[in-house]
Amino acid sequence: MALIEWGTDLSVEVPAFDEQHKKLIDLLNQLHDAMLQRRGREVMGPLLDELLSYTNYHFAAEERAFDRFQYPECAKHMEEHRKLLATAQELKAKHDAGSLAITVEVMDFLKKWVAEHIRKCDKLYTAFFADKAVEG
Ligand SMILES: [Fe+2]
Ligand SMILES: [Fe+2]
Repeated sequence: MALIEWGTDLSVEVPAFDEQHKKLIDLLNQLHDAMLQRRGREVMGPLLDELLSYTNYHFAAEERAFDRFQYPECAKHMEEHRKLLATAQELKAKHDAGSLAITVEVMDFLKKWVAEHIRKCDKLYTAFFADKAVEG
């Protein structure tokens, strides 16, 4: 059972970024499946690493487009990226230290972490990028 399903309600109408959001959601769903199957740290650890590095990659891709096209809201958006990354790094560090188990609550938190950013922050750039050729 998927934790999040990508649907048009999550579309930012920039194809390259919709694809990257789908990949992020796929990684969260993999982590969720691993949790349901009670997989150990040897499975969860690498999945969390992949989630972190893909998030880094995706944020950098958005920020390159902000820079290239001079997106006016970029400062606020980049600040949100920094906060999200810091939270994810904190989770990973706690997991590595053995003080955090991936539970339903953690998954619920990560679901909001991704979905709310797409809905409340990323969607604000839809109109701005509508007439621009954004690469991933
Ligand atoms: Fe995004
Ligand atoms: Fe973003």
